[in-house]
Amino acid sequence: MDIIIKENYQEISLAAASIIADLIRSKPDCVLGLATGSTPLGTYRELIRRHKEENLDFFKVKTFNLDEYQGIGIDLSKPYDQDRSAARFMHEELFKHINLQKENIYLPDGLARDMNNFCAWYEQEIVKAGGIDLQVLGIGSNGHWAFNEPGSSLSSRTRVQPLAQQTIDDNYESFYKKSGISKEAMPHFAVTLGIGTILESRHALMLANGEKKAAILAKALQGPVTSAITASAIQTHPGKVTVILDRAAAAKLK
Ligand code: PGA
Repeated sequence: MDIIIKENYQEISLAAASIIADLIRSKPDCVLGLATGSTPLGTYRELIRRHKEENLDFFKVKTFNLDEYQGIGIDLSKPYDQDRSAARFMHEELFKHINLQKENIYLPDGLARDMNNFCAWYEQEIVKAGGIDLQVLGIGSNGHWAFNEPGSSLSSRTRVQPLAQQTIDDNYESFYKKSGISKEAMPHFAVTLGIGTILESRHALMLANGEKKAAILAKALQGPVTSAITASAIQTHPGKVTVILDRAAAAKLK
């Protein structure tokens, strides 16, 4: 596992974008696994800049997103702050600014009628695409990877998962509060890639910044591998693993 410690969020974002851009330039039809949340925003902004200013070409790239809230779908008729779907986040923060082809964008469908069927299909599409070359990951303050909340099996596959109270509280503070949506009205379930699925990616790129993540990161990276902290599965990832942190997030590493 390579752990890279940067001075600040901007440097994390530049380093992560460079890893992604290098992959796209060496394998133009690569498959990216993408995450939502505040952590990868800077990385996506830098990728957009490289697309616009340095001809970084996404034409043949395929993307699979990690998760989506259940019961929610993208609704472009609403203003962005009233549409809290992960799909809308990706559209606004990355997809609409680059030349990814629509048919190459895969997103978990929070509105699927038959969720079991959908989840099985999503897994199959990842396999059909040749597997995920590079999976971008954050870490939740409770140690979750995607929405694999504490207690999720470390061999889990794509499925619907109830959200932990801490995740609901964190999402409320980060995203929902400013939309005027109450905690009760927030989604309490999500469809998420499983830990087993994430571990099949060829390269896991985990990003974290800020002191809020320091304690959980030290546990995930250097504590026992446990389903109580699903990101600790990173220690068992059989492929390449890169973790990019700022000094604040790295503060509790031994
Ligand atoms: P964040 O979320 O990037 O908004 O901190 C991370 C996560 O929940 O995985």
